Amino acid sequence: MDKNLLENLSLQINKELYSAYLYFAMSIYFLEINMEGFAKVIKNQIKEELNHAKKIYNYLLSRDEEIILNDIKAPDTNWINPYDTIKSALEHEKTITNDIKHLYEMSKETKDYATEVFLQWFIEEQVEEESKFRCLLDKIEQTKNLGCEIIHIDRNLKLDEEYIE
Ligand SMILES: [Fe+2]
Ligand SMILES: [Fe+2]
Repeated sequence: MDKNLLENLSLQINKELYSAYLYFAMSIYFLEINMEGFAKVIKNQIKEELNHAKKIYNYLLSRDEEIILNDIKAPDTNWINPYDTIKSALEHEKTITNDIKHLYEMSKETKDYATEVFLQWFIEEQVEEESKFRCLLDKIEQTKNLGCEIIHIDRNLKLDEEYIE
């Protein structure tokens, strides 16, 4: 595999683990303000991010490539309210989408067809990831229009069986 592509795929493992760490911090934030529904969604997200990291790790192992693990930085946690928190989750996912696009372009440029195919799953996954947080933001925004409380959204999220902690 191209050296630069390999380095960036290893770096992506780090970014997926950082994503899990970021959502770990967000779940603490929501639990501290007693919003268990939002915390449940975010805890579900931690699992997904760990799974993303494992997918890349397994792929590099199957290609018999050397995996380099780096330090995971601590996330910034100065969110001011639930809207701000979910908004920063969406912004984070957008940066990950760009990373995946970049990796995809690199695999095309180096004619690494296997990696190109491998990354297609991540491209679709990022559409879902962004949509999930955009949908939550819309729900929070609608509380203003409908005159309802964010606590109702939280209660519904807690009951939503789509998310498993
Ligand atoms: Fe991810
Ligand atoms: Fe993600």
